Amino acid sequence: MTASSSLVSTTALILAAGQGTRMKSSTPKVMHTLCGNPLVYYPIRAALDAGCTEVVVVVGHGREHVETYLAKAFGPKVKTAVQREQRGTGDAANAGLSAVSSSSERVLLFYGDVPLLMAEDLVQVVNAIDKNAELALATCALADPTGYGRILRNSAGNILEIREQRDLKSDAERAIVEINPGIYSSSTRFLRDAVAALKPNNAQGELYLTDIVALAAQAGKKVVGVPSRAEVLVGVNDRRQLVEAEEVLYARIAQAWRVAGVTVRSGARIEPMVVLEPDVTVEASTHLRGRTRVGKGALVDVGCVLTNVSVGEGAVLKPYSVLSDSTVGARAQIGPFSHLRPDSDIGDEAHIGNFVETKKTRIGRGSKANHLAYLGDGIVGENANIGAGTIFCNYDGFLKHTTIIEDGVFIGSDSQIVAPITIGKGAYIATGTTVTKSVPPEALAIARVPQVNKDEYARKLKAKLKAAKEQAKKT
Ligand code: UD1
Ligand code: CA
Repeated sequence: MTASSSLVSTTALILAAGQGTRMKSSTPKVMHTLCGNPLVYYPIRAALDAGCTEVVVVVGHGREHVETYLAKAFGPKVKTAVQREQRGTGDAANAGLSAVSSSSERVLLFYGDVPLLMAEDLVQVVNAIDKNAELALATCALADPTGYGRILRNSAGNILEIREQRDLKSDAERAIVEINPGIYSSSTRFLRDAVAALKPNNAQGELYLTDIVALAAQAGKKVVGVPSRAEVLVGVNDRRQLVEAEEVLYARIAQAWRVAGVTVRSGARIEPMVVLEPDVTVEASTHLRGRTRVGKGALVDVGCVLTNVSVGEGAVLKPYSVLSDSTVGARAQIGPFSHLRPDSDIGDEAHIGNFVETKKTRIGRGSKANHLAYLGDGIVGENANIGAGTIFCNYDGFLKHTTIIEDGVFIGSDSQIVAPITIGKGAYIATGTTVTKSVPPEALAIARVPQVNKDEYARKLKAKLKAAKEQAKKT
């Protein structure tokens, strides 16, 4: 979903200072997430994709929270302006204009609670300005216009003003289905003058940005409506709309990947920053999050959850594996039910099997840990075999220590490797060994209590235990 145009000296002014009362939340509305990103991410992304030369976001309610996020996610690409008290969208626009650079020629003004907008929807509103209009705004007809500002036109069809739901005066006005989605474009000079002239004459006693339309029309300036796609214009005011918009976004992302040559089963959820190569298969109920990348031909099977994971070509992630901040090599096999915690680096063709947990561990090419193991703070060479039940004892209660397993090592089942420790190349650890001393290359390490077989003793033992049980029942 990339840039569809480049706009000349255009500032995107995004209003995001409101509390969002209808969310009933201590989190500011624009910080509620959908598809893994805060609401405000999406309109900013659309503005950047549209090629806006400057992006100013007006913050206010919960501003520290919003500003911290914006700095982290967008850095210097996004400026903020503060609206101290939330006195309406006109007041917010005014606050925002103070941060707009003096060289800015045009403004594209819209709201921060519209996550489904795309660059092309913004570009067409800006382009309408080039046809001699002073002010352009998106318009849209809705079967149910409740809650939106309505567009009032004269008999010649010219736009006269926008009237908010609560300020509508007659049934005829309430019957108007053409609404204001809230995307405006004008010269920066026009907006500065119009916003300065706003008055709070409405039911709310607020400064309504929408009144710039009447100001322009009364001054004989040309206002054009740009018919826009209803499905991308929905504003999120409550959590019901948040989740509805999220479903639309997930569906849109999945469809785009299908077109690009990826099989995405229904019910898979792919976040916007994920990258998939051709011939990847993403099975149902899989969640691909953050900056996950999946290489050509890889299979991510049912129920896997990947967060910031890089998966190599042809790798197979079997069902219900959970991976975060990790790398999986080409043709490696993971799962079912594997847990790769941060900084796991699984080499090409390596196998990590069921109920194996790794953390901050590198596994070399072709090495295998197929069942029931904890591998933390380890460096494992190539073609090593780590048996079922192996534990890297990395933590002494105070510090974490490293386990080094060199190439070709065989670790028998149920062994504990007490770090810091090195198992030399080609060494062999006998099953059930607690390894506390480093093992030289090609050595056998065995640490077991010798086994004793007592002939016929099982029979005696069982008789004794049975008698004890009967005695216990009586008393
Ligand atoms: C607004 C429009 C309405 C339009 C609808 C489209 C006005 C007066 N009304 O109504 O015509 O149909 O959007 O979705 O503009 N904000 C601030 N500071 C404030 C108030 C709001 O920054 O003082 C921000 C909010 O964070 C939000 C945006 O402006 O992102 C819109 O505010 P909201 O209260 O949701 O307006 P609506 O009632 O939806
Ligand atoms: Ca709104």
